[in-house]
Amino acid sequence: PKNFIIAIDGYSSCGKSTIAKALAKRLNFIYIDSGAMYRAITLYFLRNNIDWHDHDAVMNVLHQVHVELHLEDDYTQVLLNDEDVSEEIRLMPVSQNVSKVSAIKEVRKAMVKLQQKMGKTKNIVMDGRDIGTTVFPDAQLKVFMTAEPLIRAERRYKELKAKGEEISVREVLDNLKERDYEDTTREESPLRKADDAVILDNSHMTPEQQLEFVAKLYKNLL
Ligand code: C5P
Repeated sequence: PKNFIIAIDGYSSCGKSTIAKALAKRLNFIYIDSGAMYRAITLYFLRNNIDWHDHDAVMNVLHQVHVELHLEDDYTQVLLNDEDVSEEIRLMPVSQNVSKVSAIKEVRKAMVKLQQKMGKTKNIVMDGRDIGTTVFPDAQLKVFMTAEPLIRAERRYKELKAKGEEISVREVLDNLKERDYEDTTREESPLRKADDAVILDNSHMTPEQQLEFVAKLYKNLL
Protein backbone atom coordinates (compact mmCIF):
# COMPACT_ATOMS: atom_id res chain seq x y z
CA PRO A 1 0.00 0.00 0.00
CA LYS A 2 1.04 3.58 -0.63
CA ASN A 3 2.47 5.60 2.24
CA PHE A 4 0.14 8.05 3.94
CA ILE A 5 0.80 11.78 3.89
CA ILE A 6 -0.83 14.36 6.12
CA ALA A 7 -0.23 17.98 5.09
CA ILE A 8 -0.75 20.72 7.66
CA ASP A 9 -0.53 24.24 6.31
CA GLY A 10 -1.58 27.59 7.64
CA TYR A 11 -0.64 31.00 8.91
CA SER A 12 2.31 31.79 11.15
CA SER A 13 2.15 30.82 14.81
CA CYS A 14 -1.10 28.91 14.56
CA GLY A 15 0.25 25.96 16.47
CA LYS A 16 0.73 23.82 13.38
CA SER A 17 3.81 22.11 14.74
CA THR A 18 2.17 21.33 18.09
CA ILE A 19 -0.67 19.47 16.40
CA ALA A 20 1.49 17.93 13.70
CA LYS A 21 3.88 16.57 16.32
CA ALA A 22 1.15 15.19 18.56
CA LEU A 23 -0.63 13.63 15.61
CA ALA A 24 2.55 11.99 14.33
CA LYS A 25 3.18 10.57 17.77
CA ARG A 26 -0.32 9.16 18.05
CA LEU A 27 -0.32 7.61 14.57
CA ASN A 28 3.31 6.57 14.71
CA PHE A 29 4.07 8.69 11.65
CA ILE A 30 7.21 10.74 11.09
CA TYR A 31 6.88 14.45 11.77
CA ILE A 32 8.66 16.85 9.42
CA ASP A 33 8.92 20.57 10.14
CA SER A 34 9.41 22.16 6.72
CA GLY A 35 9.65 25.67 8.21
CA ALA A 36 12.76 24.62 10.14
CA MET A 37 14.50 24.02 6.83
CA TYR A 38 13.74 27.54 5.57
CA ARG A 39 14.80 28.91 8.94
CA ALA A 40 18.15 27.11 8.83
CA ILE A 41 18.92 28.42 5.34
CA THR A 42 17.95 31.90 6.47
CA LEU A 43 20.38 31.70 9.38
CA TYR A 44 23.13 30.81 6.95
CA PHE A 45 22.28 33.84 4.78
CA LEU A 46 22.34 36.13 7.81
CA ARG A 47 25.56 34.83 9.32
CA ASN A 48 27.41 35.05 6.04
CA ASN A 49 25.91 38.35 4.94
CA ILE A 50 24.68 36.89 1.68
CA ASP A 51 22.87 39.25 -0.65
CA TRP A 52 19.79 37.24 -1.52
CA HIS A 53 19.06 39.36 -4.58
CA ASP A 54 22.24 38.02 -6.12
CA HIS A 55 21.32 34.89 -8.05
CA ASP A 56 24.86 33.47 -8.16
CA ALA A 57 25.33 34.02 -4.46
CA VAL A 58 22.06 32.20 -3.76
CA MET A 59 23.06 29.26 -5.93
CA ASN A 60 26.40 29.11 -4.15
CA VAL A 61 24.68 28.98 -0.80
CA LEU A 62 22.44 26.15 -1.94
CA HIS A 63 25.51 24.17 -2.83
CA GLN A 64 27.24 24.92 0.44
CA VAL A 65 24.37 24.39 2.78
CA HIS A 66 23.44 21.07 4.21
CA VAL A 67 20.32 21.00 6.36
CA GLU A 68 19.38 17.93 8.32
CA LEU A 69 16.40 17.28 10.57
CA HIS A 70 16.75 14.77 13.37
CA LEU A 71 13.65 13.68 15.16
CA GLU A 72 14.18 13.55 18.85
CA ASP A 73 11.48 12.50 21.25
CA ASP A 74 9.63 15.78 21.49
CA TYR A 75 11.46 18.13 19.22
CA THR A 76 13.23 18.40 15.91
CA GLN A 77 16.95 18.85 16.09
CA VAL A 78 18.07 21.01 13.20
CA LEU A 79 21.60 20.70 11.89
CA LEU A 80 23.10 23.33 9.62
CA ASN A 81 26.30 21.90 8.18
CA ASP A 82 26.48 19.64 11.24
CA GLU A 83 26.02 22.46 13.77
CA ASP A 84 22.99 22.27 16.04
CA VAL A 85 21.00 25.44 15.35
CA SER A 86 17.68 24.22 16.77
CA GLU A 87 17.43 27.11 19.23
CA GLU A 88 18.88 29.91 17.17
CA ILE A 89 16.51 29.46 14.23
CA ARG A 90 13.54 30.25 16.52
CA LEU A 91 14.79 33.70 17.53
CA MET A 92 13.64 37.00 16.06
CA PRO A 93 16.49 37.73 13.64
CA VAL A 94 15.62 34.58 11.73
CA SER A 95 11.85 35.10 12.09
CA GLN A 96 12.22 38.59 10.65
CA ASN A 97 14.05 37.43 7.54
CA VAL A 98 12.81 33.94 6.80
CA SER A 99 9.86 35.03 4.65
CA LYS A 100 12.20 36.98 2.38
CA VAL A 101 14.54 34.05 1.95
CA SER A 102 11.77 31.51 1.50
CA ALA A 103 10.30 33.59 -1.31
CA ILE A 104 13.37 32.95 -3.47
CA LYS A 105 12.47 30.57 -6.25
CA GLU A 106 15.72 28.59 -6.18
CA VAL A 107 15.54 28.17 -2.42
CA ARG A 108 12.01 26.79 -2.64
CA LYS A 109 12.93 24.46 -5.44
CA ALA A 110 15.75 22.94 -3.42
CA MET A 111 13.68 22.61 -0.24
CA VAL A 112 10.64 21.14 -1.98
CA LYS A 113 12.84 18.53 -3.59
CA LEU A 114 14.29 17.54 -0.21
CA GLN A 115 10.84 17.44 1.35
CA GLN A 116 9.41 15.25 -1.39
CA LYS A 117 12.28 12.85 -0.91
CA MET A 118 11.52 12.60 2.80
CA GLY A 119 7.93 11.64 2.07
CA LYS A 120 8.59 9.15 -0.66
CA THR A 121 8.19 5.93 1.24
CA LYS A 122 7.23 6.78 4.80
CA ASN A 123 4.04 7.79 6.54
CA ILE A 124 4.54 11.42 7.44
CA VAL A 125 2.92 14.49 8.91
CA MET A 126 4.52 17.60 7.39
CA ASP A 127 3.65 21.15 8.35
CA GLY A 128 4.37 24.32 6.42
CA ARG A 129 2.81 26.74 3.96
CA ASP A 130 2.71 24.92 0.63
CA ILE A 131 2.64 21.25 1.61
CA GLY A 132 -0.90 20.55 0.42
CA THR A 133 -0.62 22.75 -2.65
CA THR A 134 2.90 22.15 -3.95
CA VAL A 135 4.99 19.64 -2.04
CA PHE A 136 2.37 16.89 -1.77
CA PRO A 137 -0.66 17.86 -3.86
CA ASP A 138 -1.79 14.22 -3.57
CA ALA A 139 -1.62 14.06 0.23
CA GLN A 140 -4.48 11.93 1.55
CA LEU A 141 -5.33 14.40 4.31
CA LYS A 142 -4.86 18.18 4.20
CA VAL A 143 -5.57 20.56 7.03
CA PHE A 144 -5.44 24.34 6.81
CA MET A 145 -4.93 25.99 10.18
CA THR A 146 -5.82 29.49 11.17
CA ALA A 147 -6.56 31.55 14.29
CA GLU A 148 -7.18 35.17 15.18
CA PRO A 149 -3.94 37.15 14.85
CA LEU A 150 -3.99 38.56 18.39
CA ILE A 151 -4.54 35.13 19.89
CA ARG A 152 -1.64 33.76 17.87
CA ALA A 153 0.59 36.65 18.91
CA GLU A 154 -0.19 36.14 22.58
CA ARG A 155 0.57 32.44 22.41
CA ARG A 156 3.89 33.04 20.65
CA TYR A 157 4.74 35.91 23.00
CA LYS A 158 4.44 33.60 25.99
CA GLU A 159 6.76 31.07 24.37
CA LEU A 160 9.42 33.64 23.48
CA LYS A 161 9.18 35.27 26.90
CA ALA A 162 9.72 31.89 28.54
CA LYS A 163 12.91 31.55 26.51
CA GLY A 164 14.05 34.91 27.80
CA GLU A 165 13.60 36.92 24.62
CA GLU A 166 12.97 40.63 25.25
CA ILE A 167 9.94 41.37 23.16
CA SER A 168 6.44 42.83 23.28
CA VAL A 169 3.14 41.36 22.10
CA ARG A 170 3.00 44.20 19.57
CA GLU A 171 6.33 43.19 18.02
CA VAL A 172 5.27 39.56 17.83
CA LEU A 173 1.96 40.56 16.26
CA ASP A 174 3.70 42.79 13.71
CA ASN A 175 6.10 39.99 12.81
CA LEU A 176 3.42 37.42 12.26
CA LYS A 177 1.28 39.79 10.20
CA GLU A 178 4.32 40.66 8.13
CA ARG A 179 5.11 36.99 7.54
CA ASP A 180 1.50 36.18 6.66
CA TYR A 181 1.53 39.04 4.18
CA GLU A 182 4.80 37.97 2.57
CA ASP A 183 3.84 34.31 2.55
CA THR A 184 0.42 34.86 0.94
CA THR A 185 1.57 37.39 -1.65
CA ARG A 186 4.82 35.85 -2.89
CA GLU A 187 4.93 34.65 -6.47
CA GLU A 188 6.37 31.22 -5.83
CA SER A 189 3.90 28.78 -4.25
CA PRO A 190 2.22 31.31 -1.96
CA LEU A 191 0.46 30.25 1.19
CA ARG A 192 -3.10 29.34 0.36
CA LYS A 193 -5.61 26.71 1.31
CA ALA A 194 -5.66 23.73 -1.04
CA ASP A 195 -9.14 23.19 -2.47
CA ASP A 196 -9.42 19.86 -0.71
CA ALA A 197 -8.02 21.01 2.66
CA VAL A 198 -10.15 21.07 5.80
CA ILE A 199 -10.07 24.37 7.70
CA LEU A 200 -9.21 24.27 11.38
CA ASP A 201 -9.65 27.59 13.18
CA ASN A 202 -8.19 26.93 16.60
CA SER A 203 -8.71 30.39 18.14
CA HIS A 204 -10.85 28.90 20.88
CA MET A 205 -9.64 25.31 20.97
CA THR A 206 -7.22 23.57 23.28
CA PRO A 207 -4.42 21.51 21.72
CA GLU A 208 -6.26 18.35 22.85
CA GLN A 209 -9.42 19.40 21.02
CA GLN A 210 -7.42 20.16 17.89
CA LEU A 211 -5.72 16.80 18.03
CA GLU A 212 -9.07 15.03 18.39
CA PHE A 213 -10.44 16.98 15.44
CA VAL A 214 -7.60 16.00 13.11
CA ALA A 215 -7.35 12.43 14.40
CA LYS A 216 -11.03 12.00 13.61
CA LEU A 217 -10.54 13.28 10.05
CA TYR A 218 -7.82 10.68 9.66
CA LYS A 219 -9.94 7.86 11.09
CA ASN A 220 -12.78 8.71 8.74
CA LEU A 221 -10.46 8.19 5.80
CA LEU A 222 -9.52 4.63 6.74
O1 C5P B 1 6.63 27.21 10.09
P1 C5P B 1 7.51 28.38 10.43
O2 C5P B 1 6.76 29.54 10.97
O3 C5P B 1 8.67 27.99 11.26
O4 C5P B 1 8.09 28.83 9.02
C1 C5P B 1 8.93 29.95 8.91
C2 C5P B 1 8.79 30.60 7.55
O5 C5P B 1 9.27 29.71 6.55
C3 C5P B 1 7.38 30.96 7.12
O6 C5P B 1 6.97 32.23 7.58
C4 C5P B 1 7.50 30.94 5.61
O7 C5P B 1 8.03 32.16 5.13
C5 C5P B 1 8.54 29.87 5.35
N1 C5P B 1 7.94 28.58 4.97
C6 C5P B 1 7.59 28.40 3.65
N2 C5P B 1 7.11 27.18 3.24
C7 C5P B 1 6.99 26.17 4.10
C8 C5P B 1 7.33 26.33 5.46
C9 C5P B 1 7.80 27.57 5.86
O8 C5P B 1 7.70 29.32 2.86
N3 C5P B 1 6.55 24.98 3.64
